[in-house]
Amino acid sequence: MKYVTLVSMVAALGGLLFGFDTAVVSGAIGFMKERFNLSEIEVGWAVSSLIIGCIIGAASAGVLGDRFGRKKVLLLAALLFIIGSIGSAIPDTFTGYIIARIIGGLGIGITSTLCPLYNAEIAPAKYRGRLVALNQFATVTGIFLVYFINLWIAGYGDDAWDVSTGWRWMFGFGVIPGLIFFVLLFFVPESPRWLIKQGKAAESLPILLRIHGEELARQEVLEIKESFKQESGSIRQLFSPALKLALIVGVGLAVLQQVTGINAIMYYAPEIFKQTGAGTNASLVQTILVGLINFLFTILAIWLIDKVGRKPLLLGGSALMTVSLFVIGLQFHSGEPSGLLVLIFILLYVAAFAISLGPVVWVLISEIFPNRIRGKATAIASMALWMADYVVSQTFPPMLSSAGPAMTFWIFGFMSLFTFIFTWRVVPETQGKSLEEIESLWSAKKINVTQKLPEA
Ligand code: GLC
Repeated sequence: MKYVTLVSMVAALGGLLFGFDTAVVSGAIGFMKERFNLSEIEVGWAVSSLIIGCIIGAASAGVLGDRFGRKKVLLLAALLFIIGSIGSAIPDTFTGYIIARIIGGLGIGITSTLCPLYNAEIAPAKYRGRLVALNQFATVTGIFLVYFINLWIAGYGDDAWDVSTGWRWMFGFGVIPGLIFFVLLFFVPESPRWLIKQGKAAESLPILLRIHGEELARQEVLEIKESFKQESGSIRQLFSPALKLALIVGVGLAVLQQVTGINAIMYYAPEIFKQTGAGTNASLVQTILVGLINFLFTILAIWLIDKVGRKPLLLGGSALMTVSLFVIGLQFHSGEPSGLLVLIFILLYVAAFAISLGPVVWVLISEIFPNRIRGKATAIASMALWMADYVVSQTFPPMLSSAGPAMTFWIFGFMSLFTFIFTWRVVPETQGKSLEEIESLWSAKKINVTQKLPEA
């Protein structure tokens, strides 16, 4: 367990880069507006260029990971991330910055798909939820860290860093976690499931032995080999009746994780708090609170996910998110929102997300697909997630000003309610099952999606 935890922690570092890079721009944008004299559209580009890269990175991660192995492609992602960080820090033109962000985004798109998938493939079934959720823990750590770095660099009054250099340091800091990730990756093994797929069962055995011990390892090799005997892993297979449901669950949850509004809070929290009358300082401090709650409740999720299962967390979390969002909407609807109540319910919403949709969706999309198609299928779900992220982060500011904050939060509330119903009706419980057990249940179409999977 110790070995596999260490290996999973290295892979989870990809999540740290993910969190760092998606949130860093929230602090840099003020500086950049001034430095490059940006229009509103350019501000949108400054934020979303990374996400464009992420969509492309996620889309290619499956094919690349299946062809060259998980490890090599993660090394490539670390390099892209490092190039992106340096590239966003040094350019003197806005176009140079945008190109660098897209390159960094390619790396993030790849890690967001392959890191959870790698952890799912290497983990013993009993701890799989926890080990994959480490990735989400690293993501929220990255976000939390970057809020502090941004606050420190942005500073106040005389302490504030120079406009022309402050934002460069924010992006440049990314090189440190990027390099650490790159170096540590050399010490982790290739995914044993991928090796078996390549006909390299002999190479996979020592890895499985270290993870599972003698007896289980041999049994695992047989089960994994067996799972590859069925038809080849073409995308078309995903649309077969047996696997269509897996695809609906994976893509559905990926999109719902985003359209319930988490990144409206993660990327725009200070702006939302300002709408309740908070000053600049107070809004930045409240944003740190958001990061802290996200961080703490993700730890709780890691502890709970293999104990209570994925589905109860999703149901409880989405219910609490729904209530919180409706209350926030009501507060804004009243015309005189109470700063304290809005803060409390935003924190409640973030806590509910952090114990449910945040980690559980990444865990589910990395474990519900069969071995032979997992790379490509996970990439499709992750690409859908990034596209939904793009839509929400682009439309949130105009929605706030046209539909108003009350309606905006109610829309997120309805989406959360829908997530509750979707989970209740369609999402299976996968806790404690080996990846092969989950797979055989889909393909045998034995699955009754409204019930827990039967014991194997
Ligand atoms: C999940 C989401 C990501 C979000 C983060 C917040 O990882 O996929 O978009 O920023 O949670 O904690």
